[in-house]
Amino acid sequence: MLNPADPAFLDHLAGLLPPDTLRPCEARHLEEPRGRWRGQGAAVALPRNAEEVAILLRACHAARVGVVPWAGGTGLVGGQLMPDGPLPVILAMDRMTALRGLWPQENVIAVEAGMTLAEVQARAEAAGRLFPLSLASEGTARIGGNLGTNAGGVNVLRYGNARDLCLGVEAVLADGTIHRGLTRLRKDNTGYDLRHLLIGSEGTLGILTAAALRLFPRPARQGTALLTVPSPAAALDLLSLAQDRLPGLISAFELISGTGLDFLAETLPELRRPFSPHPAWMVLIDLGLPRAMDPEEELAALFEAAAEAGLAQDGLIAQSGAQRAEFWQMRETIPEANRRIGAVASHDVSLPLSAIPGFIDRAGRALAALGYWRINCFGHLGDGNLHYNVFPAAGRSRAEHQNSRDQVQTCVHDLVHDLGGSVSAEHGIGRLKVADLVRYGDPAKLAAMRAIKAALDPHGILNPGAVLG
Ligand code: LAC
Ligand code: ZN
Repeated sequence: MLNPADPAFLDHLAGLLPPDTLRPCEARHLEEPRGRWRGQGAAVALPRNAEEVAILLRACHAARVGVVPWAGGTGLVGGQLMPDGPLPVILAMDRMTALRGLWPQENVIAVEAGMTLAEVQARAEAAGRLFPLSLASEGTARIGGNLGTNAGGVNVLRYGNARDLCLGVEAVLADGTIHRGLTRLRKDNTGYDLRHLLIGSEGTLGILTAAALRLFPRPARQGTALLTVPSPAAALDLLSLAQDRLPGLISAFELISGTGLDFLAETLPELRRPFSPHPAWMVLIDLGLPRAMDPEEELAALFEAAAEAGLAQDGLIAQSGAQRAEFWQMRETIPEANRRIGAVASHDVSLPLSAIPGFIDRAGRALAALGYWRINCFGHLGDGNLHYNVFPAAGRSRAEHQNSRDQVQTCVHDLVHDLGGSVSAEHGIGRLKVADLVRYGDPAKLAAMRAIKAALDPHGILNPGAVLG
């Protein structure tokens, strides 16, 4: 059982840490982007290094006080706050933002967990390298949170997710032990890989304080196209065609639905939208090419081949960096439009690629049996990752559907599970999907997860209630 971080404990903690390390919580530490939960916290700790994190955890471990790790606060599954239970301490990474090292020749950067993702990208760029992890909240999200949740984003198709980009970590375990694993080795087969246990553990097994990350050469030339496609099945055939023609050169392949454009028109009419009327389905393709290849020519040739094969109907090829940015801004603003419309239920699912058209078809029919909805299905098609978000019918309010959320979610997740998919592709489990993990998770894996949690955090102080409940 945990104890609350009461005033006596806070006094004790303040005495162990340098002055000004412990402060009252700010509003941002207790909020999350979807506004579904409100957090609570006795204080926020702002450590400067792994040693101070260790002092904090050692004290919390001894007193059995919960610790909620907080990086950028942009997570979408409630992993960054604790709405109920004994009052915890929030552990925020704002002060741990230093560059630990940069080795361009090795294609490695080492940074502290509180550096924003955008700054990691900028540091890599200044050294003539690419750090490819990219997502809409990169200006606010911090790399420790990205690794803690094994974030995905738009470039997974080519470069992998956060886990694939990490070579080593420095981390503090629940009892205050510091794991000094900030290596930058590409090969290291020395037993169990603690790094990969901590990545994606959502702060339930340890606190990441620094990471060594893989960098890549920057593609010399980039190109972006927006193509309308007759169906999701055609979009997948187009992906195959594009990969055959441009092997290893496709950085992103995103699916966008007409509903997404409708929502942008309704909520953010000032934003430029392509195509009128809105087509039912589009794909956004991003290429990163060597100097000798011309992106506009390659995209035009791809469009021609796709049109001939009946896989694309219309297309726009960005003619400038500004137009590329415009296409991407439109894509990255869809979640904001969704937020303004207000979803009944949002899903972040993945499926075997060939199961996607069947899923979209069957999910639409199964939901139609439950009521009238607007469905915005979009996302990282190249990774088999869809954001399948369900909204009230036009003119109806979210409040009318308050009681339908569970039914809708179960309908979608059951189908995903039946088709061999995952009910959390890239956002994690947090507090939103604890029950889903039990319902759909493999029992052997769940038992192993519980045993690992008990071994590494025997008092359950780390992010109480997240992932395993
Ligand atoms: C996106 C977020 C929702 O892909 O993951 O926009
Ligand atoms: Zn996404």
